Amino acid sequence: MKFDTPAGANPIDKLKVVGRATSRIEGKYKTTGAAPYAYEHQEIVPAPAYGFVVGSAIAKGRIAHMDIVDAKAAPGVIAVLTTLDYSTPLPLGWLNFAHLFGGAQIAHYHQAIALVIAETFEQARAAAALVRTEYVRAPGKFDLARESASVPLAPNTDKTKPPIETVGNFESVFAAALVKIDQTYTTPDESHAMMEPHASIAAWDGDKLTVWGSLQNLFLGKLSLATALSIPPQNIRIHSPYIGGGFGGKLFIRADVVLAALGAKAIGRPVKVALARPFVINNTTHRPATIQRVRLGATRDGRLTAISHFSICGNQPGGSSETAVDQTKLLYAAPNRETYMKLAVLDLPEGNAMRAPGEASGMMALEIAMDELAEKLGIDPVELRILNDTQVDPQNPQRAFSERHLVECLRVGSERFGWSKRNPKPGQVREGRWLIGMGVAAGFRNSFLVKAGARVCLEKSGRLTVETNMTDVGTGSYTILAQTAAEMMGVSLDKVTINLGDSDFPMVGCGSGGQLGANSSTSGLYAACVKLRKAVAERLGFNPAEATFADGKVSVGNRSVPLAQAVATEPLVAEDSIEGGVLDKTYQQSTFASHFAEVAVDIYTGETRMRRMLAVCDAGRIINPKAARSQIIGAMTMGVGAALMEELAVDKRFGFFVNHDLASYEVPVHGDIPEQEVIFLDYPDDKSSPMKAKGVGELGLCGVGAAIANAVYNATGVRVRDYPITLDKYLDKLPQVA
Ligand code: MOS
Repeated sequence: MKFDTPAGANPIDKLKVVGRATSRIEGKYKTTGAAPYAYEHQEIVPAPAYGFVVGSAIAKGRIAHMDIVDAKAAPGVIAVLTTLDYSTPLPLGWLNFAHLFGGAQIAHYHQAIALVIAETFEQARAAAALVRTEYVRAPGKFDLARESASVPLAPNTDKTKPPIETVGNFESVFAAALVKIDQTYTTPDESHAMMEPHASIAAWDGDKLTVWGSLQNLFLGKLSLATALSIPPQNIRIHSPYIGGGFGGKLFIRADVVLAALGAKAIGRPVKVALARPFVINNTTHRPATIQRVRLGATRDGRLTAISHFSICGNQPGGSSETAVDQTKLLYAAPNRETYMKLAVLDLPEGNAMRAPGEASGMMALEIAMDELAEKLGIDPVELRILNDTQVDPQNPQRAFSERHLVECLRVGSERFGWSKRNPKPGQVREGRWLIGMGVAAGFRNSFLVKAGARVCLEKSGRLTVETNMTDVGTGSYTILAQTAAEMMGVSLDKVTINLGDSDFPMVGCGSGGQLGANSSTSGLYAACVKLRKAVAERLGFNPAEATFADGKVSVGNRSVPLAQAVATEPLVAEDSIEGGVLDKTYQQSTFASHFAEVAVDIYTGETRMRRMLAVCDAGRIINPKAARSQIIGAMTMGVGAALMEELAVDKRFGFFVNHDLASYEVPVHGDIPEQEVIFLDYPDDKSSPMKAKGVGELGLCGVGAAIANAVYNATGVRVRDYPITLDKYLDKLPQVA
């Protein structure tokens, strides 16, 4: 089904199942331990061998020699594969650029250099410690700030645009602006820190490979793995039914999958490989650090006349930049604008997608700058954002936003949060030893519809079974797909079975990523259900255009027949996909939010505590308000980490992330955040898809960090522009009024 004109009224609009707060249909499997994760699947693969990955101890250089004699002779060891078994790196899978295995060259610390395979995990791990490697170390570049001076412009990810995007004349208008801000902000390297580490089981049957993995996108995973192993993609089948979190870290194949496949081939027996937690952080990907300069020029009454956002980022050769300037192209009106990025080559591990890549980091800078501008102007920061709202793409004014209710997000949020009680003068509100502050930021993230398909099968019993290669990364895909099928076919949720995470099923291009999955995968299923409705109606002798589907029956006028009667002997099967892309060009499709935060800062110790958070979100139709709320709350929590805690500490001499475990890479937990609330405006967007929905999983993060930073400033009067806002950055500047 092509989606190239706005959706009219359709069966989803009835909202009997869609739009209702619905608990996870797979929740009971997860909470009882019945849901198999990647390293499990004991029933299907009962006797695998265990692989343990050895990582490089240097960050840059080459391997001179590897001695595996002792490792091979260790108890239980079946085989040892080393990177020197291959003369060059394995070919790169699509969108992978840091090499995964093969050859003597070392591109980053903890690059996989060997796989030790043994009868038990403990034997493999013990033997891995006996692999002795001699290296020739080469000098590396590990310091983004130092490298940033002399690097080229980063290529624009949108190839139709030049690397520097400009409108009007930024420099001269900014120079003449009566009120201006020119500040530099930094965000650190961050880790996904998902609960389940990367893990895979691989089994060969002749030249056919089956993988049980933890991958967000099976379409991408299959193609990448085929490239890396130099085998045809149709020889690979990947299962990833349950994923213990990914946040972008499992969008791409990593060493676990590749080495499990190579190991299983080498020993002629299934092999399972999990990346040990201390290995995940330097072996896999992370969100790369940025240095961002934001310049804002405004009239005295607060209208932006000039906006510039520049961001620099580092990555492995061939890597891409964190697109931190993207939201600045769209968020606020201003006639003169420029955005550009630079990319330094670094020898740190690969930087790649982490939840809301680009906007998450970019909003952390832009939305502090807006707070600084509001203060300079003496305008309320909520009002400043409202004053500079735009209903059209500011770089391309004939292109309107499909739906944009940012102003309402800000107004509703400020009302519900009690924003009027905020004292605009910082450092004034005191409760005992605590300094109290409130902060606000806008939230913004784009929304797309990508190609997605599904197969839906109606059985004689009246049961519907859905198959797609979509994944559920912990977001609620199972549940929203069940809601969609139930709504379309007029049955209750318990009549629907959803099968996900099998690469042989119809393709969802995005998998779970880029907050594209909910809207795209349900729309693909919508298309398949339209076909099934037609087939059912025809079988029952109804005009498909007139037939309604409700309460397990199909009806036209006063004739009504049970749905299952359409099935003779063989189940009725329909398959289709959704393809958008046209309305994306005519309309800018984005999601919006306002984020409010209240913090308390201990005036003696500088400890910051979250007190309250509120997000008001405008993200199209909300398919499942309960799952969506969980997504937003999780993202807000991640925003607390980004604002106050999370930072991969770079060892700039030896080139690695020092805090490579969950004891030293700190993330917030329940006890850190006493109160979080989410409000959805729920404006269906008929340009986004037949579901009229958008994504929420990343929106909930974009802007949160800045709202908290602004609250800390309001509490203390100390402006910290380098994340995370840890007490060492402001303790000596707190008011001396204790
Ligand atoms: Mo997301 S970073 O696209 O999993």
